[in-house]
Amino acid sequence: MKILPTIALKKGAVELIDQTLLPVEYKILRLNRVEDLCEAIKALRIRGAPALGVAGAYGLLLAVEEKWRQHDTWYFDADGTNLDAFPAIATVEAVQQYIDINAKILRDTRPTAVNLGWAIDRMRKIYARVWDDPKAMLQALYNEAQAIYNEDIEMSLAMGRHGAALLNDGDNVITHCNTGGLATSGYGTAVAVVFSAVETGKRVHLYADETRPLLQGARLNTWECVDRGIPVTVLCDGASASLMSEKKIACAIVGADRIAANGDTANKIGTYNLAIVAKRFGVPFYVAAPSSTIDTAIATGSDIPIEQRSPDEVKQYRGVIVAPEEAEAYNPAFDVTPHELIAGWITEKGVLQPPFDR
Ligand code: MRU
Repeated sequence: MKILPTIALKKGAVELIDQTLLPVEYKILRLNRVEDLCEAIKALRIRGAPALGVAGAYGLLLAVEEKWRQHDTWYFDADGTNLDAFPAIATVEAVQQYIDINAKILRDTRPTAVNLGWAIDRMRKIYARVWDDPKAMLQALYNEAQAIYNEDIEMSLAMGRHGAALLNDGDNVITHCNTGGLATSGYGTAVAVVFSAVETGKRVHLYADETRPLLQGARLNTWECVDRGIPVTVLCDGASASLMSEKKIACAIVGADRIAANGDTANKIGTYNLAIVAKRFGVPFYVAAPSSTIDTAIATGSDIPIEQRSPDEVKQYRGVIVAPEEAEAYNPAFDVTPHELIAGWITEKGVLQPPFDR
């Protein structure tokens, strides 16, 4: 199966596909500074909850590179570490303090996707230990970041397999926002279910909501499906009721940015609308997400922090004005679909039902 190079460590830098340019331009960005990675996260050059978790973990390694970089040396790469070159004068405490400052900066970039904080917490469990040697600590941090990346791919593949069992040959599936390889380490969540079904020989047609205001569905799901030869139809977000009234849609599958213990699920704005429409037409509505997106510390969806984004994202598109300047805009990045509208949560462990804090 194909794994996209969504994000990777490359000789002292974080490289990622600039998702804001797709489908017009495919460009790999090479980021040398945490500030640039934070800008990329805030601008959605990298996005999708699981991909943000990997970005958070790699961001802490990037902080170390940036602070202690000497000439053209590097310490971390996808193929391994080069820690013999790490300066002997750097103390464990200095490295820990510097990583901790950057952990806070990275964590604050996007508040809703729990995977970002989850990955940073995993890294903190490593660097907060007592260490005698900074190089040993950095090697352990690198191992943890790579584990987060690799586990995300494994979880995507397992989710794909569990979800694919729900689909039949010839099914039409509707989704909202991009949940393919670009939103993860490289394979996906909701759209991974379609990829996996197709890989097992089933014919599946994906209907992709365009996902206003930033069009992750129109720009990214279509790009990934075309690349894999999977039939895909893009539709305006408001067209899902019309589609379900006319075409036989087997199910809706969406991703998640944070799932509360009772199953209430935050995902891209418009997901709740799709769930209501699916209920109206008796179409089963599934969420596909790795267990890293389940936040058992949050009891219900009303406690999930929702990111509010710039009004300009709604009033303009790529510099083209689509509403008068004087108009106000409502632009929450996510909404929360109540658990009673969700038929099942497709995870790497199977198709589950809440409560998740059992
Ligand atoms: O604002 P984005 O593009 O990061 O929002 C992403 C989504 O809402 C996805 O659907 C979600 O992260 C699940 S994808 C794996």
